[in-house]
Amino acid sequence: MCGIVGYVGRREAAPILLDGLKRLEYRGYDSAGICTLDGTGLQLRKCVGRVDSLITVVRAQPLQGTLGISHTRWATHGLPSDTNAHPHLDQSGRLVIVHNGIIENYADLRRQLVEAGHHFQSQTDTEVLAHLIGRHLDERVPRGQRPTPEQLVHAVQEATGHAEGTYAIAVLHADLPVCLVGARRGSPLVLGLGKGENFLASDVSPILPHTRRVVYLQDGDIALLYADRYQLWAGGRPVERPVDTVQWSAEEAELGGYPHYMLKEIHEQPGRIADELKRVLRSEQGWAEFDALTPHLEELIRIKRLVLVACGTSWHAALVGEYLLENLAGVPTEVECASEMRYRNRPFEEGTLVLAISQSGETADTLAATRLAHEQKVRTLALVNVIGSTLARECDWTLYMRAGPEIGVASTKAFTMQLLQLTLLALTLGRKRGRISLAEGRRMARALQAIPDKMQRILRDEPRIIRVAKKYYRFTDFLYMGRQYNFPIALEGALKLKEISYIHAEGYPSAEMKHGPIALISPEFPSVFVIPKDALYEKNLSNLEEIKARSGPIIAVATAGDCEIRKKVDDVLYIPPTLDCLQPLLAVVPLQLFAYHVALLRGCDVDKPRNLAKSVTVE
Ligand code: AGP
Repeated sequence: MCGIVGYVGRREAAPILLDGLKRLEYRGYDSAGICTLDGTGLQLRKCVGRVDSLITVVRAQPLQGTLGISHTRWATHGLPSDTNAHPHLDQSGRLVIVHNGIIENYADLRRQLVEAGHHFQSQTDTEVLAHLIGRHLDERVPRGQRPTPEQLVHAVQEATGHAEGTYAIAVLHADLPVCLVGARRGSPLVLGLGKGENFLASDVSPILPHTRRVVYLQDGDIALLYADRYQLWAGGRPVERPVDTVQWSAEEAELGGYPHYMLKEIHEQPGRIADELKRVLRSEQGWAEFDALTPHLEELIRIKRLVLVACGTSWHAALVGEYLLENLAGVPTEVECASEMRYRNRPFEEGTLVLAISQSGETADTLAATRLAHEQKVRTLALVNVIGSTLARECDWTLYMRAGPEIGVASTKAFTMQLLQLTLLALTLGRKRGRISLAEGRRMARALQAIPDKMQRILRDEPRIIRVAKKYYRFTDFLYMGRQYNFPIALEGALKLKEISYIHAEGYPSAEMKHGPIALISPEFPSVFVIPKDALYEKNLSNLEEIKARSGPIIAVATAGDCEIRKKVDDVLYIPPTLDCLQPLLAVVPLQLFAYHVALLRGCDVDKPRNLAKSVTVE
């Protein structure tokens, strides 16, 4: 996944474009580039490395112009290098493009263009797209004449008609110093509408410091932006799209005094949960009221089967959701890993609802799996965070997780907001289907309302977690274990550690230990046990004893006040007591902080871990 920014207006473009890249850097950070246009022509700078490297280059060689485009890359075709960094030029050297996505038939297109006499500098699919647009433009513009903005729009329309795959692009031309063109298919692109200036970006964060008025482009849309107006086309015809007002502030998408977005987002969790409970929980009735689902509540109550589909951390949330929806709502539920489901020819029974979970709403595998359900006319519900994302637009119904912008690549607050929404959905369905009594529903509502304060108590215990991280950060392997609601938390804790500290960690159902993994246990192989006081505490304890008997170091995530566990393990991360079904909301927090501090101690880049991107828009 990459980040693109475009600007046309009355201010110098470079500072706006570079600041915009800093806000998009979580989308990809192996190389970056910028191009502006003023009376002297195109001015292009690009380099391998982070956006800060590009800023250094631009500081040494400043750019002028009130029109420009910029890009931060997560390499798909071609190694990270100065040459492969965007922007890319067409054959004429007068058309410039930045691109987020994958042109799947780029090799064929490149072959055809080479046969037509084109020469390429890079190994990228993007440069092929630049040449293709340039070629279509040349076919439209009589030799020696300057292109018109409309001719550039049509050239983009024709060229992208020949390109297979996904793109969000920003295009400018040396002979058109007053406008830029944007287009999208399968990758997000947002217009920002300012006063005497307009913006293009992969998401709203580069736009928010300047305006909250946005237009979410849809697949197939092409936009022509001037400083004071814009036009949209779809399928070659003018089209109107709604102008939305972003609810997030620029500050919310910034660090706010924290050293890293991940730490800020971990600490944001209690407040986000409290706000959402205030908004949707009806404690007197013991259920939630989701404004987006109210019109469909009758159909929702009658569903016969739920299929939850997701990737990564969102898949872990789906695994917790399976327990919640079966235990509380009595709905037969299954979880599919999106990347597996999309290639299976799975039948869907009558009365099935596919619930797709995705923070970004742009994960390629989750989108593909959900489209499979659409092909079989199965009802789909999206649980997403990013407003206007592709998944939100393609599903029949949408439930926003309302975590606010999540910038850290390692998902934290989005995960707990997914758990919250799944818990509220299960509680509400359980109440509406008569499986949960009013008294039980009120009891659950009260327990939910206590979660933010209990989460705060865990966060206040961070110094203890830091001490434990200091004790274990040099180990090279970990096992994470849990049962039932907390088995997915073991998976999530292991993933957090893996993805930001690069330590090998595996999550397992506790009882699975004896079927093989216990062979790994040694004094050099610590285990993290999620063992709160719940219905399976004793079962977990016997698994824990098996580890102890083999001298494996043990860190326990246990319920505050459990003095028994202290005697059996090496270190304890305490969480306050709560209902079994709400344990995941609390148990994950010490594991998020543990992973964060271990990664810091190992000198890792917590917000931009190597090889990762915030949203995996490739397959
Ligand atoms: C989580 O920490 C990872 N960054 C990754 O597993 C992520 O959850 C996964 O790529 C799914 O992303 P989505 O929720 O945006 O679909």
